[in-house]
Amino acid sequence: MGIYLDYAATTPIKPEVLTQMIDIYENHYGNPSSIHSIGRDARKFLDESRRTVATSLGAQPNEVIFTSGATESNNTAIKGIAYANQHRGRHLITTKIEHHSVLHVFEQLEKEGFEVTYLDVNKAGIIDLEQLKNAITDETILVSIMFVNNEVGTVQPMYDIDYILQDKNILLHVDAVQAIGHLPIDFHELNIDTMSITGHKFGGPKGIGALLVKTDTPIHYNQLGGEQEVKRRAGTENLPQIIGLAQAIKNVSSQIDENNLHLMTLKNQLLVSLQERSIPFELNGSMTETTGHIVNLYFPFIDVETMLTLLDLANIYVSSGSACTAGSTDPSHVITSMYDKNRAFHSVRFSFNEQTTETEVKQVVAEIHKIYHRFKKEEA
Ligand SMILES: Cc1ncc(COP(=O)(O)O)c(C=O)c1O
Repeated sequence: MGIYLDYAATTPIKPEVLTQMIDIYENHYGNPSSIHSIGRDARKFLDESRRTVATSLGAQPNEVIFTSGATESNNTAIKGIAYANQHRGRHLITTKIEHHSVLHVFEQLEKEGFEVTYLDVNKAGIIDLEQLKNAITDETILVSIMFVNNEVGTVQPMYDIDYILQDKNILLHVDAVQAIGHLPIDFHELNIDTMSITGHKFGGPKGIGALLVKTDTPIHYNQLGGEQEVKRRAGTENLPQIIGLAQAIKNVSSQIDENNLHLMTLKNQLLVSLQERSIPFELNGSMTETTGHIVNLYFPFIDVETMLTLLDLANIYVSSGSACTAGSTDPSHVITSMYDKNRAFHSVRFSFNEQTTETEVKQVVAEIHKIYHRFKKEEA
């Protein structure tokens, strides 16, 4: 099977999640909007899933809108807030290291006449809170900042961001995709207005996510049709996927501490083992403001494509950053923002999940050691 260390791109579905989904496909096929008992049976599962997702994230059930994933959630939240609040101002703030499902939406809004400030990050991948404060104007209506970066694992200071926005009439959107299962999240305590998640990053199915929207948030919804999701997203609900999402988030939310300990141990092991073998590398990001599941490393002796190919030949599956840009030859915008383009061409993302073992990490280090020595010889 090889060694899969690309869990930030996607995770395999958990067997217990799949079992529940199959039960829905086989036994609860009704349309939750039908009023007969088959429909009502499906509705019961839908309502229960909404409650589960809400409880796991400190939200109210009516604040959860099921979507096709975080790309849709980010699109809906950012465009929806921009359009519904543009009478108050047309200035938006985000960061340079957001996922493309956020950045490309802002780029589109710029073309439509909105003004966007893209915040810088330091070498740890963290925004400068002073820059955020200084960027706010009377025209600012939205700040969109990801909780955990998908390429380097950096955690943004969400409580400080929240504090800065307190008492200001500015909405806060958070892409929390990579935070689920790694950080405890309380939607209400954090004062977030909208938040995106996607199921396949924590053992759930692909093609299902949620957008959390705080009650009374002024937001414009554009998927019109039926009255599903309280008229906020039309279309018959994808119940088996929704059940999968709910089951996966419930499982992962109860294991955060235990999993984090394991993941941080693996992260440390990877770094220490590379050092012990005298392989030249540097960490992209920070060892403190971070989650355990992502480690991004700069290897000066090899370009990322060669490294990925050689590891792939050894049945080790890692990536250069966001899976969405895997087909592109552009260097990572995240590493470029933190350091420079050259560093991006030499940086590799390793990402773990709770099933990753110390033996696997050892094997990966042994393989990188071989690659390093091969390159050293070729250079000599
Ligand atoms: C931080 C972040 N946001 C958004 C997304 C998009 O999620 P999806 O592809 O499920 O729509 C991803 C997935 O790669 C991500 O890592």
